[in-house]
Parts: sequence; structure tokens; C-alpha cells
Amino acid sequence: MAKEIKGFIFDLDGVITDTAEYHYKSWQKLADEEDLFFDREVNEQLRGVSRMESMDIILDGQDVSDEQKKKWTDRKNEYYQVYLEEISKADILDDMEAKLNKLKAEGYKLAVGSSSRNARKVLKNLQITDIFDTIADGNSVENAKPAPDLFLHAAENLGLKPQECVVLEDAESGVEAALAANMKAVGVGPEGRVGKAHLVYADVDSIDFDEILKKL
Ligand code: BG6
Ligand code: MG
Repeated sequence: MAKEIKGFIFDLDGVITDTAEYHYKSWQKLADEEDLFFDREVNEQLRGVSRMESMDIILDGQDVSDEQKKKWTDRKNEYYQVYLEEISKADILDDMEAKLNKLKAEGYKLAVGSSSRNARKVLKNLQITDIFDTIADGNSVENAKPAPDLFLHAAENLGLKPQECVVLEDAESGVEAALAANMKAVGVGPEGRVGKAHLVYADVDSIDFDEILKKL
């Protein structure tokens, strides 16, 4: 079966780098300033979810105008941008860069499939933009994860069929998007979050691509 696999689509936040923590801190700052309820548990629901949908999850049904929501999401993004200024190659998780280079050397196509509109900036600061054959981000498609659209867009840009692609994801919404796209899903994180994936690794360090190619 592994012969069928020709490409890998990587989520960015939480798979290649731990920007998930910066998203959390930025939302927490906004929530504290605006007296909105927010904690790490709510934050877990925001993994992989677009900026505006994250705002709606935090508001939890509170009636707030679109104009106000736009102002708040813009402010959250300003806080996040400050964290992004600080990130560098040292922020790539574990041996992910070596793993990417090995896959590329073996002839696999590589893509980023991230819900973030900041993905290109993050990749630039991590200095790994050029490793990827294509970058699908929060600006690429209308329907965000868990819709399959972003991953299908990435596969199309790679010139691959969905079933030839493996998606690596740390978010439940991302695993669902990969499955909806008819791709193979590898979850990174606890079973409770990414357990629907075909294969699960507790963290980036334990991802074993030889095993993925053998088992999927
Ligand atoms: C995803 C993150 O990658 O991008 C989410 O997991 C985040 O937490 C989303 O909300 C959108 O990011 P941005 O940078 O466009 O606000
Ligand atoms: Mg993620």
C-alpha cells in the first residue's frame, strides 16, 4: 500500500513548530482585557480552527457585532505578530527539519496545509519555506478545516490524488479534514484529540516515517 503514497501534507501550528502556545497567549491577553472567559481548556477547541471561528468559540453564543469581532480578532492577531517576530530556526520542533529533508531526498512531494493566514511568515522565520513544493494556508480556500478543501487544494497543487497523500495534524478538526479529503491521517498528540487518525504519535519526536510508509 505504501507504494501509493507520493506526498505529505504538514499542518504547521503544533506539527512543525509550537506556535499553538503563542496563539493561546494572544487570545488569553485579549480575553483578559475584554473580560471574556478563556482558559487552556477552551483553547484546546481552537486548534486548527480559523481566526474568526476561534472568536465565535470564545464568545460561546454571546451577541457581539461583526464589527466588534473584527476589531478583537485584529487585535489578537497584532499580539500574535509580536510573538512571530521572535521565532527563528530554533523553534522548529525536534528533528522535524531533518525528517522533511529526508522525505524530500527520497522523492516525496511536500506541502504545508495550515489554517493560518500567518503561515508564510512563520515558515520564512523558521527558514524552511523552500523545502515545500506548495503552501496552502488560511488565504487559499474559503471553507476551513474540518472541511477537506485546504488539503484537497494542497494535493491538487502537488499534482497528486487525495489517496496518494498523508496528512500530519495535531488538531481534531485537521484529522477530520484529512479523512473527509479521503487522505491518510497521522495524528500528533493525545488519543483523545487525534485518535480518529489512521496512526497516532504522542509527539513530533516519535513520528516514524518508515513506519507510516509501511503501515498506511
Ligand atoms: C491554525 C491554528 O493553524 O491557524 C489556530 O491551529 C489558528 O489556532 C489558525 O486560529 C488561524 O491562524 P491565524 O494566524 O490566521 O490567526
Ligand atoms: Mg495545528
